[in-house]
Amino acid sequence: MTTGAARWAAPGRVNLIGEHVDYAGGLCLPFALAQRTVVEASLLDEPRVRARSRAEPGTVDIALDDVGPGSPPGWAGYAAGVLWALRVAGHPVRGMELLVTDTVPLGAGLSSSAALECAVALAADELSGLGLSRTELAAACVRAENEVVGARTGGMDQAVAMLATADHALLLDTRDGATRQVPLSPTGDGLAVLVIDTRVRHRLADGQYGARRAAVEKAATALGLASLREATVSDLDGLDDGLRRRARHVVTEIARVRQVVAALDAGELASIGPLLDASHESLRRDYEVSCRELDLACEMARLSGAFGARMTGGGFGGSAIALVPRSRVDDVTRAVGNAFAASGYRAPAIRQARPSAGASRVG
Ligand code: GLA
Repeated sequence: MTTGAARWAAPGRVNLIGEHVDYAGGLCLPFALAQRTVVEASLLDEPRVRARSRAEPGTVDIALDDVGPGSPPGWAGYAAGVLWALRVAGHPVRGMELLVTDTVPLGAGLSSSAALECAVALAADELSGLGLSRTELAAACVRAENEVVGARTGGMDQAVAMLATADHALLLDTRDGATRQVPLSPTGDGLAVLVIDTRVRHRLADGQYGARRAAVEKAATALGLASLREATVSDLDGLDDGLRRRARHVVTEIARVRQVVAALDAGELASIGPLLDASHESLRRDYEVSCRELDLACEMARLSGAFGARMTGGGFGGSAIALVPRSRVDDVTRAVGNAFAASGYRAPAIRQARPSAGASRVG
């Protein structure tokens, strides 16, 4: 039996800049998208979670006591994992029925997993009367992903899904969790941020993400630092070549975030193009998390009028972003589409991104 069905929604995100630094004490600058994951939730009178999704077959029905690392497997682990994380933090979470009615595009590098976690977290907080802050709820979402799903991601996606406000990017300092809303309204400046979904599906639980994180942690340890946030480029000279390139990405990327924030604070969004390009190059060459489709999307966007372009999110597929004068949006869209067709790649999905608000109850 269920009582009190209501709906909660949480957004996907793109990261303007500050990629693969959120597990290294770095700075990132994501913003929330208009695309949302919507979860209809109600209380059960038993301590279970019963979860269905319109995007997936079947129902997952599991006792709360049986949720834990690796259980349940698959998509439901993100949802049930949040309830587990809240319970292990000592909060009296009640059984819930969950129906995912809409979702941020899956596997597009737009953080559908954090959107699902955050919608469930808000639902659990309200239905069980926990009264937790958004920061506490975001932390539970990160634990769910790290420990139940087993993807050792940083906290950027959950933070922006919970804390974003419309027409702003979220400057997130992952060393201490501090945040600042940075005005970002591309249309007001005659610009557009295009999101180019390459439709190459990535999986963060795969080993590459974990390997990058391990390399960054190894580099910090070798330098005797708490994290690479503390390092300068010249500190990296003593590292072996492979580790130095990984660490150099992190150190230079954090510096680029500071420059982008300064430009946005000065109202000079159009000037950040070269920093976006440099971020992509660093991710491609030093961090080696790009792929041919992402490289082609960025290159064609630049050649057809974008001020700058870069992959966004974890990489190995997923999406790129391009900063484009509004008058050139059609040119860029056509050029990227044509280049993908000429290369025999799937047609990319290209949309304008509007910096949007974070998670909320929607009905
Ligand atoms: C994924 C992870 C984030 C972050 C990005 C790369 O989206 O979930 O925590 O590490 O990759 O910046």
